Amino acid sequence: MKGVTREVITAMMLTIALGGCAQKPPAPKVEEQAQKYSDGELPLPDNYKSWPKFLSEVQRPDNKQVREIYINPTGYETKMGEAFPNGTITVMEIYKAGEAADGTPLKGPDGKLVKGELQKIGVMAKGAGWGESVPPELRNGDWVYSMYMADGKTKASDDLNTCRGCHLPLKDKDYIFRYDEYFQKRAS
Ligand code: HEC
Repeated sequence: MKGVTREVITAMMLTIALGGCAQKPPAPKVEEQAQKYSDGELPLPDNYKSWPKFLSEVQRPDNKQVREIYINPTGYETKMGEAFPNGTITVMEIYKAGEAADGTPLKGPDGKLVKGELQKIGVMAKGAGWGESVPPELRNGDWVYSMYMADGKTKASDDLNTCRGCHLPLKDKDYIFRYDEYFQKRAS
């Protein structure tokens, strides 16, 4: 009996030890990498859905879209009035607004557009010196941009300079649209 027990225990310990060896170290996060990213190189972090929400159900009737925005824990540390620290990543899911068969927008009981199909996912992140290679007239501080299709892997065909052009006037808000709305909602 004793022998069997010892064998079982040895086998268990071996399993634990081997299991430990077989485990790959987790991929370094964007904010931990010394690497500099340029537009289009920024990967979509696969855990972004577990991050704090930046804003939910952003209504874009002009584009027939509903958007969901997330911010990573590093960015979440930011207080109103501050710029976001290096290592901040924001992710924006762009959904087609739901439509009835006749093309009229579908609305929920609260009068809001409802989310249809996920179309694209945009990413913005900043790191020390990341903006240096960008021409000054297009520089958005140290933010860089990527846009993916709904699978989160296929690059969308967007010209990433258009991202810069539209976010550029938001310099006073660290290039983030809805900066005030976010901090006001968080405070309330
Ligand atoms: C015509 C203007 C315009 C262009 C072009 C644009 N954006 Fe934005 N972006 C916005 C607005 C406005 C918001 C805030 C959410 C909203 O109202 O839809 C936003 C929000 C975002 C956010 C969420 C964080 C934040 O700043 O609020 C990300 C990420 C983002 N955009 C990425 C991109 C990427 C990537 C591109 C280029 C492929 C791009 N944007 C092009 C206007 C623009």
